[in-house]
Amino acid sequence: MGTASGLLTVVLLVLLSIVGFCHGGVTSSYVRKAEASPDLPKEAFPPPPGFNAPEQVHITQGDSGGQGVIISWVTPLMWHPNFVTYWAAEGNHKNYKLIASAKITSYKYYTYTSGYIHHATIKGLEYDTKYFYEIGIGECARLFHFRTPPKVGPDVPYTFGIIGDLGQTSNSNETLEHYIANPTAQTMLFVGDLSYADDHPNHDNERWDTWGRFIEKSAAYQPWIWTAGNHELDYAPQLKEYTPFKPYMNRYHVPYRSSQSTSPLWYSIKRASAHIIVLSSYSAYGKYTPQYTWLQKELTRVNRAETPWLIVLLHSPWYNSNNYHYMEGESMRVTFESWFVESKVDIVFAGHVHAYERSERISNVRYNITDGLSTPIKDQSAPIYITIGDGGNVEGIADSFTDPQPSYSAFREASFGHAILAIKNRTHAHYTWHRNQDSNAVAADSLWIYNRHYFPVEELSH
Ligand SMILES: *[C@@H]1O[C@H](CO)[C@@H](O)[C@H](O)[C@H]1NC(C)=O
Ligand SMILES: *[C@@H]1O[C@H](CO)[C@@H](O)[C@H](O)[C@H]1NC(C)=O
Ligand SMILES: *[C@@H]1O[C@H](CO)[C@@H](O)[C@H](O)[C@H]1NC(C)=O
Ligand SMILES: [Fe+2]
Repeated sequence: MGTASGLLTVVLLVLLSIVGFCHGGVTSSYVRKAEASPDLPKEAFPPPPGFNAPEQVHITQGDSGGQGVIISWVTPLMWHPNFVTYWAAEGNHKNYKLIASAKITSYKYYTYTSGYIHHATIKGLEYDTKYFYEIGIGECARLFHFRTPPKVGPDVPYTFGIIGDLGQTSNSNETLEHYIANPTAQTMLFVGDLSYADDHPNHDNERWDTWGRFIEKSAAYQPWIWTAGNHELDYAPQLKEYTPFKPYMNRYHVPYRSSQSTSPLWYSIKRASAHIIVLSSYSAYGKYTPQYTWLQKELTRVNRAETPWLIVLLHSPWYNSNNYHYMEGESMRVTFESWFVESKVDIVFAGHVHAYERSERISNVRYNITDGLSTPIKDQSAPIYITIGDGGNVEGIADSFTDPQPSYSAFREASFGHAILAIKNRTHAHYTWHRNQDSNAVAADSLWIYNRHYFPVEELSH
């Protein structure tokens, strides 16, 4: 009797563990139309009125801790205006006007010549303060505003938006409009693949200009934190264009030197209670490479007492159960995954796959060519991997998931949308994913995420 009930318990336990993990998560039954929408015509993104008016205005963080901003814009015909006037809208220095001048770059790509691309770095701003900024003077002057983040600290609430693989179609516009109408997010974490100019003949770089005009309605008012994707490579020997990332690196500057990086393609920032590390899936990352040695050092600089939340942005996902781009992130996973587990990274956001997917906390760090152990296992020190390449670009939706859904996949759906990560304090962050077809109040996927350093408790998934 005792033996029989003991056996039954063992059988039950085995069954429970199978039910508990071997089944995959949820594949959403929501089905959207599959066909891709084309890029909107160039005329849908007109330049602002006026001779040589500044256009494609966008901002990003300009220093390590959030008191700096890089303001970027393009003037099409002349290098003027090459300065920005800025002033606080509140606080002790209210309305006290200052001027920052810009560095100007321009580049040629095949038969295209860019306008004058300006980057003005402003430092020493007050924390948590609204600023106005005006580019130029007179008839063509353009006025914008942004708010600096609160001082870096462990319990500072802050809300990030996340979008990837945006492009410039009507779906892209729906995603961005939906994001803007979701008023809570203060900074965009953009996980790569910006304009999709390279999908046009000769990588038509006017599509980089139209994209800059398209995103201005958000990117001029809140910082977008940039990650490079494969569509930023623009490597085209057939056009005698041999310099990878040339348009991207001329147009989108990032504060990489503030994090001791030697390349704008990988860097980090601290913002409110988050330490955000940006990696490049398309730059060398093997042992001894600059990216490898930088990341190794960078992880030792993370101070969870100051920034409890450790977030990584990269383009090509490590855990992806879509047939599109299956296992493309694998070699980078093999290189860095054990570091992410040791460092207790909270969340990794990736793009590339044009669908949405959220993983369980899992790791696969046992791989050893002789021990045969290479399956993902549940691991409460591992990050949650979120693929959010569902911005709505010209290439359409990735609607072919592997079947059955693997155990590491908690939720997946082939729809376009954006996500919001609302950090509340050092232990709790509320995460939601919003598909374009729903009103903003609806979250198609949501989760309370618990900090891995301060509260490493298993989350209640779906
Ligand atoms: C994007 O959508 C908004 C809101 O529907 C619309 O007003 C705007 O014209 C659209 N933009 C483009 C470029 O189609
Ligand atoms: C790999 O696995 C084998 C067999 O379990 C073990 O003997 C060996 O020490 C492992 N090697 C490493 C580098 O962990
Ligand atoms: C952190 O935020 C969560 C969610 O808002 C809340 O339940 C919890 O009490 C907060 N913790 C502290 C210490 O305030
Ligand atoms: Fe991509």
